[in-house]
Amino acid sequence: MASLSEKILQYISENDEVTTLKLATVFKEDHQKVIGALKSIQTYGDLVIADPLSDKTLGLTEEGVLFVKNGSHEAVIYNAIPEDGINQKELMNLPNGKIGFSKAMSSGWILVDKSSGQPIAKKKIPEIIDTVRDHLIQISQNNCSEITDSLKQEFKKRKLVQENTIKYYLLKRGPEFTTTLAKLETDLTWEMLSTGSWKNLKFKDYNLDALGVPPESGYLHPLLKVRSEFRQIFLEMGFSEMPTNKYIESSFWNFDALFQPQQHPARDAHDTFFISDPQITTKFPMDYLKKVKEVHSNGGYGSIGYRYDWELSEAQKNLLRTHTTAVSARMLYNLGQEKEFHPVKFFSIDRVFRNETLDATHLAEFHQVEGVIADYNLTLGDLIGVFTEFFKKLGITELEFKPAYNPYTEPSMEIFCFHKGLGKWIEIGNSGIFRPEMLLPMGLPEDVRVLAWGLSLERPTMIKYGYNNIRDLVGPKVDLMMVQNSPICRLDK
Ligand code: PHE
Repeated sequence: MASLSEKILQYISENDEVTTLKLATVFKEDHQKVIGALKSIQTYGDLVIADPLSDKTLGLTEEGVLFVKNGSHEAVIYNAIPEDGINQKELMNLPNGKIGFSKAMSSGWILVDKSSGQPIAKKKIPEIIDTVRDHLIQISQNNCSEITDSLKQEFKKRKLVQENTIKYYLLKRGPEFTTTLAKLETDLTWEMLSTGSWKNLKFKDYNLDALGVPPESGYLHPLLKVRSEFRQIFLEMGFSEMPTNKYIESSFWNFDALFQPQQHPARDAHDTFFISDPQITTKFPMDYLKKVKEVHSNGGYGSIGYRYDWELSEAQKNLLRTHTTAVSARMLYNLGQEKEFHPVKFFSIDRVFRNETLDATHLAEFHQVEGVIADYNLTLGDLIGVFTEFFKKLGITELEFKPAYNPYTEPSMEIFCFHKGLGKWIEIGNSGIFRPEMLLPMGLPEDVRVLAWGLSLERPTMIKYGYNNIRDLVGPKVDLMMVQNSPICRLDK
């Protein structure tokens, strides 16, 4: 079967010229489809000449369409009057009653009888012809021979019709006119080049106006978005990122270096995931290890230590790091080994593992945001000052601190913030000043203080994105559409 484009070409070959509007009626197609077929003919070259034209046509407004469906207001009013009349007021209260009433009166269709003392509307003639409706039907059928200019004016005034501009084309044969459309080539192939067949082929023009296929791209998980927000804040504040690409640590760096005693409950298999293969680490900086052993068992640097038998075998046990403070410890040790101390500001945001009972807010792994500042003579006031700045950049301005305990910090503070959405104070982090028992064996100068803090990445992300269950955010039950649909940024902060 010939396509609409071919039918149009056939028509033009038999008739010198034709408008696209005419073609639409001839082929009983929507005018837009004819225009589409014309555009496709034009991609084959100058087959036809298309002169753009426009006409004003009369069309019905929404109200005009209702008139055609239900009758004019005056006819509706006329038809609403029963044989023995109706109270005028009741009649006028019908929808569009007032205008219908006055039109019906002036057309002489109805009268008002006041003989009973009350105005009663009655039919004046037995039958009416709703000419307004009939005229509107003619207009809707594009048959305007009976529609005088004054009628047009009246219908426009009554907002029953409106002028529409219609754009169309007058088509004639063009210099490359033909009635058959050879399929246009879209690709220049190796065969066409080697056989020379390309010389006789017609190629489709590039459509430089085509919109193209929207590229499918990846979507960042909310955790990654909040992660980059934290990272940006640290970078703005002059911090540099610590290498956290080792999930497995020895107990030595995860606990012992942090002056966490070997009997501490966190070092139990109920709290920590130990590694079975390889079970232990044997390479340590031995000088430093000896100092750590000494400070745990006998003390030093003004401390009496924990006074127990420190075992190398306990320190050798490999584990999935329980906090990124293990990385901070290694970094501070390296700093202590440098010839001369220089102040540092480090941060990291990465995964840690704890043998937790899983529930709506706990997973066995999560991300920790960690900050460390080392400089001479820092104080708790500096720590609070850094938090004020750090959390202000996150949009959190109300902070409170509560004394806490960590084996490696003294003093230690839990950080609370007021969550406006939840209307309560919630704990967001833990912090403190690293103990001399931790820093001095590393070789750091005595008057150097190291401030540090840690928070989870999941908690602020859940709050910001409104998730109550961590399993909606992480794990096998995550809905991938959540990742795709979560907002790029949140202006609420
Ligand atoms: N490591 C601590 C935790 O796991 C956080 C912390 C880091 C506390 C540094 C004080 C200093 O919660």
